[in-house]
Amino acid sequence: YVIGVDLGTSAVKILLVNQQGEVCKEISKSYPLIIEKSGYSEQNPEEWIEKTTAGLAELMEQFDGKPDDIEGISFSGQMHGLVLLDQENKVLRNAILWNDTRTTKQCEQIYETAGKQKLLEITKNPALEGFTLPKLLWVKEHEPEIFMKSHTFMLPKDYLRYRMTGNIHMEYSDAAGTLLLNVAKREWSHELLNLFDLTPNLCPPLVESHSYVGTIKEDFSSRTGLSKATKVFAGGADNACGAIGAGILSDGKTLCSIGTSGVVLSYEKQNDLDFEGRVHYFNHGEENTYYTMGVTLAAGHSLSWFKDTFSKSQDFDDLLKDVDQVAPGSNGLLFTPYIAGERTPYADSTIRGSFIGIDAAHEKKHFARAVLEGITFSLNDSIEIFRNSGKTIDSIISIGGGAKNETWLQMQADIFNCKIEKLNSEQGPGMGAAMLAAYGCGWFSSLKECADHFLQSAKVYYPIPENVETYNKIFAIYKQVYSQTKSLN
Ligand code: XUL
Repeated sequence: YVIGVDLGTSAVKILLVNQQGEVCKEISKSYPLIIEKSGYSEQNPEEWIEKTTAGLAELMEQFDGKPDDIEGISFSGQMHGLVLLDQENKVLRNAILWNDTRTTKQCEQIYETAGKQKLLEITKNPALEGFTLPKLLWVKEHEPEIFMKSHTFMLPKDYLRYRMTGNIHMEYSDAAGTLLLNVAKREWSHELLNLFDLTPNLCPPLVESHSYVGTIKEDFSSRTGLSKATKVFAGGADNACGAIGAGILSDGKTLCSIGTSGVVLSYEKQNDLDFEGRVHYFNHGEENTYYTMGVTLAAGHSLSWFKDTFSKSQDFDDLLKDVDQVAPGSNGLLFTPYIAGERTPYADSTIRGSFIGIDAAHEKKHFARAVLEGITFSLNDSIEIFRNSGKTIDSIISIGGGAKNETWLQMQADIFNCKIEKLNSEQGPGMGAAMLAAYGCGWFSSLKECADHFLQSAKVYYPIPENVETYNKIFAIYKQVYSQTKSLN
């Protein structure tokens, strides 16, 4: 067996997986966000440790085998969160999370100091509030006494792993989201560290996602029941692990994952493409490969907002039960999902969403379908960036909320104009973490071989030419809404 631990934003999810890739046990423990002020989002790292310990202890209690039967454990984690440790490796303050937006000023400062072109050359990504470097600069400016004591900076799942093993590391896929990694060279950027007057000692040693980094410490073993012989592997960023867990491990593989936010993520062998920072470009959890990623901030969020605000439906099945009675295009009703700003392609936190073309004859089902179409158009904006860069996208694996509804799956095929594949069983980033442990343990000679063994496709949806044509026309109008409504806010 192996264990995959997904240290998410709202909960830690722990999967026990056997050699066939079947999930034998699943345990989840939630923890709160600490929101002291609007725009702030923090968590107490000790909470991650306690909930993971409790979850692992529960799993081990229910496990019929011997602790030594669990060969390996690995991790997936929420990206970008800043954990600061002092010289004794004690946590200095709450972690500042990926969805904390207090650092707009620091992002401007990063562009002024480094220049956008240099930043893109080295990190391949723009300065966004969520990333880690702006958070480090914020602490330096606002909490100098804490910054002075800072000895090491870590990311959430790396800190958890440190507490299990006593060893400090960071791995490439998560380090890519710090804005301090030279993504192509796979090393900390001394140039950027110098520019921001940060000592290189702050940065942990870098390893591969499947690297063996130690075994379980005595105290962690006695608190959880895990064997001290269980091997610990570094793990990956949640998006990298989500991709691994859906088999995005070869050229031409693309993922569409719709949760609260929506992600289109594409496998990339090359590290020298130039997207001008319009999409994220990160190291994958597989050695020497990469992925590009576009994000729709309010994907599932738009749908839950619509349900809670305008509908009596208790769940999404009920909300969406009549959308298949409405033809593509929602009888002229168009929705843009910018209800909390938008990342790709605009990186604009101030833009807001819209319903356009409301007719007195429209009913709730038209609005519900328009919301699905608007979310899918927004994801198509990312796909268009990939295609314009010369990438061929003719097949996409769809997971998350968007893969739970037949009409939405067909809509993705029609709007993305490609084949959409749904997996037999999907476990998200936790499965990717378990696969890293399985590969690390030597069960397979590559992650790809592990994916071929663990994952099966359940159903394929093909684009219907007349729907593709309808949606092409509407997408051209959709794309104009941003510029025409930007000044409303
Ligand atoms: C990626 C990002 C989020 C977090 C969520 O850039 O900010 O997907 O990783 O956990």
